[in-house]
Amino acid sequence: MEEQTPKKVMLSGIQPSGDLHLGNYLGAIKNWAERADQFDCFYFMADMHTITVRQEPAALRRRTLEQLAQYIACGLDPEKNTLFIQSHVHQHAELGWVLNCYTMFGELSRMTQFKDKAARNSENINGGLFTYPCLMAADILLYQPDYVPVGEDQRQHVELCRNIVQRFNSIYGDVFKMPEPYIPKAGARVMGLSQPENKMSKSIPEGCIFLMEKPEDIQRKFKRAVTDSDTEHCVRYDPENKPGVSNLMNIYAAVTGKSLEAIEQEFEGAGYGKFKPAVGEAVIETLRPIREEAQRLLQDKAYLESVYRSGAERASYVAEKTLRKVYKKIGFLPR
Ligand code: TRP
Repeated sequence: MEEQTPKKVMLSGIQPSGDLHLGNYLGAIKNWAERADQFDCFYFMADMHTITVRQEPAALRRRTLEQLAQYIACGLDPEKNTLFIQSHVHQHAELGWVLNCYTMFGELSRMTQFKDKAARNSENINGGLFTYPCLMAADILLYQPDYVPVGEDQRQHVELCRNIVQRFNSIYGDVFKMPEPYIPKAGARVMGLSQPENKMSKSIPEGCIFLMEKPEDIQRKFKRAVTDSDTEHCVRYDPENKPGVSNLMNIYAAVTGKSLEAIEQEFEGAGYGKFKPAVGEAVIETLRPIREEAQRLLQDKAYLESVYRSGAERASYVAEKTLRKVYKKIGFLPR
């Protein structure tokens, strides 16, 4: 009998600190869904990370469950992927504490996201915000993944995780597998519709398309999308000089599967007045089944509960093995 090589492991998480949007879908979740057969995949709602910034409890609960429903509606099959809620798997907090003690104050001080968030939340610069990358390293290392798909903004945190692995393994031997970040190409990033220099973000809602948004609101945002100040007024791919149009072209390409050249031809001589609503329409049709399926799933709380329970069970089985090994290596007496 042929020996089966184990599948490579992939893991990622999104914080339920806001509603999921088109950038999360096209930049992350859609690709995750396509990898289920090839990889052993773990995806979680990073609820423990969200409390580094004050959250409204009822809203956090709602968004965590909605995020699970949306993951499934976006094509993450719970039979093929391990979907779970971070706080349901206590090993995250436990390994997080251990890794705190193997991460330097100086390293954490250099994290640009910490500096940004501290500047924006000057009234609540708490210890969790500072040590957040240690919890993120624990999230990753518990599952010994080969790849960690993240956005460019998380590269520094994955690099720090790699430094922790290096430090830990050099003391205790090969405990952790070295994870690789898996970062989409620049063109695969979805930028905001109102400020195409910045990535699409919930904090700028007028330029952000939420997965659960009504079609008429989506269309209104596309019609108001910033194109370019040049006088050419033609649909041509040029991210440098035409970031707005190029972003809309990337979005249209991602949802229709058409090439950028084919899109230029399709809208030759048409102007933005025809192009923008066409992109809006294509996005609406892509999101419609996702929204409807997520709404349907949210009516079925028992099903969602069964998904996150069995996800947490599978996740903690794997996580516990790693945690035991770590506790043993560092000298904790077994119970
Ligand atoms: N920090 C990530 C973000 O804000 C979310 C996250 C938490 C994550 N733990 C993770 C992503 C582990 C990948 C792997 O986007």
